[in-house]
Amino acid sequence: MMLRSPALPYRLPFCELHVHIEGTLEPHTVFALAQAKGIALPYDSVHQLQEAYRFTDLQSFLDVYYDNMKVLQTEDDFFELGAAYLRRAHGGGVAHAEIFVDPQAHSRRGIDEATVLTGLNRAIAAVGAETGISASLIVCIVRDEPVIEAERMLDRVLTTGVPITGLGLDSAEQGHPPELFAGVFDRARSAGMRLVAHAGEEGPPEYVWQALDVLGVERVDHGNRALEDRALVARLAAERIPLTMCPLSNLRLRVIDRLSDFPLLPALDAGLLVTINSDDPAYFGGYLDDNIRALVKTFALGSDELHALATNSVAASFLRESEKTRLGTGAGPSA
Ligand code: HPA
Ligand code: ZN
Repeated sequence: MMLRSPALPYRLPFCELHVHIEGTLEPHTVFALAQAKGIALPYDSVHQLQEAYRFTDLQSFLDVYYDNMKVLQTEDDFFELGAAYLRRAHGGGVAHAEIFVDPQAHSRRGIDEATVLTGLNRAIAAVGAETGISASLIVCIVRDEPVIEAERMLDRVLTTGVPITGLGLDSAEQGHPPELFAGVFDRARSAGMRLVAHAGEEGPPEYVWQALDVLGVERVDHGNRALEDRALVARLAAERIPLTMCPLSNLRLRVIDRLSDFPLLPALDAGLLVTINSDDPAYFGGYLDDNIRALVKTFALGSDELHALATNSVAASFLRESEKTRLGTGAGPSA
């Protein structure tokens, strides 16, 4: 008999499609690694570091997020980071994860793509064998760096030989429109990569249009502001383009003022293929199961809605059709 997940009220196979591996770096791990390596931190304690997690917008988060990454230096550090996330995700009921990684955030401080991607790929193999969770990697362009850096990142990633499922676009959105990266996305498509982009988290609906029409993405990450544009909503619904939404992230980055403002029900009512994800769980107060539980509490979701969210997450994944069928959508509410 399939074990009921200890963390979710329903035994459903969820896919996590929007999680940044660097955003799973827990405060105690930042401190442990800094101490072990003699790296100075601008905080005296884990508590003080957590106090710095009072964000006012995306940029205020990114400043702390990129600074903390300096403790990640060796292939083993990335292995441990990936393994800890995958074990936690499995414990929270995640059957499959498509994991974002920001190679430019590491190469600009002297850590090469092979070190990062080999460590993460080893973690996927090891924890997959241990628990049965499956996972793949999506490399993201750090959009507030020059386009040439994205070009170089893609070149180097392709030479590592590590299997990479897709290309994404993240970091500071405002003032860095998707269309800047059209050439890099074209090359990734030619190399057989699947395409996604963060759009409409802080940026306007126009950035979501560009992600679709100029970059040709198959999923939009966040996409909250797409709901401001009726024609865009109609397009996303008609083409079944998933929005990988992140409620606790939206709350902590002040995209919304309170969880009851998270546009889950309007988006579902509009026929959008919404999935629920954790984004940066070590910074925003929870993993996928924590996000689901928060929504259940806020919106009094029942088993039908949870079933729809699980089904959406499988449908929106880049798994092969046979793997989607194998995952199915579980047996509904468990006794
Ligand atoms: N938005 C953009 N870039 C990011 C995020 C996010 O929510 N998390 C990590 N990098
Ligand atoms: Zn994100």
